[in-house]
Amino acid sequence: MALPLSLLTILVVFSCGPSGALGCDLPQNHILLSKENLALLRQMQRISTLSCLNDTKDFRFPRRMVNGSQVQEAQAISLQHRMLQDVSDLLLTEHASAAWNTTLLNQLRMGLYQQLEDLEPCLLQEMGEGGTALSSQGPTLGVRKYFQGLFLYLEKKQYSDCAWEVVRVEIMRSFSSIITLQERLSNMD
Ligand SMILES: *[C@@H]1O[C@H](CO)[C@@H](O)[C@H](O)[C@H]1NC(C)=O
Ligand SMILES: *[C@@H]1O[C@H](CO)[C@@H](O)[C@H](O)[C@H]1NC(C)=O
Ligand SMILES: *[C@@H]1O[C@H](CO)[C@@H](O)[C@H](O)[C@H]1NC(C)=O
Repeated sequence: MALPLSLLTILVVFSCGPSGALGCDLPQNHILLSKENLALLRQMQRISTLSCLNDTKDFRFPRRMVNGSQVQEAQAISLQHRMLQDVSDLLLTEHASAAWNTTLLNQLRMGLYQQLEDLEPCLLQEMGEGGTALSSQGPTLGVRKYFQGLFLYLEKKQYSDCAWEVVRVEIMRSFSSIITLQERLSNMD
């Protein structure tokens, strides 16, 4: 079901030419979808964040890079895609299945999948315009390193409940940034 729909989106984008600031259309509800995913993450909390204070760590979220006004449109798409892909990778692990409520986790996985699907036409278009190099540039690289840090931390903490709680809060932080990026992009249209 999902694939023909995204192919259709690509066809529409290519046949109608550039529209809006990006030259590709994200579904109307894409910000809402992020907010729903953020709400799911909030709902997933199982233990108090405060009880895990001893496990907190500064993972150096590249906030300034991600949230800076200098992030360009094409970069904003790459960044969103990178963050969503990394969150998805974290949550698709068996360790995640063991840690979280299955119902909520599966809902979140589906929401993430939908968001990634929705971004694909824009990402393809951007790559078509010679933007491939963007994926290895500053902000995207910073995001990669940040998520690698989360993976390593979980491993080191042996996927303890507190480690997952700390990571859940970090993922919520990423989602806030994704929403900020999306809102900024939609204001450019
Ligand atoms: C945090 O660590 C301190 C010192 O190691 C310990 O006394 C305290 O009970 C720990 N707090 C929690 C919430 O585990
Ligand atoms: C998982 O979350 C759902 C929705 O909040 C809830 O209905 C269900 O009871 C939870 N399952 C477990 C095992 O806690
Ligand atoms: C990003 O910046 C906006 C204002 O430009 C601010 O409202 C928002 O809270 C910031 N988000 C993060 C995650 O820093």
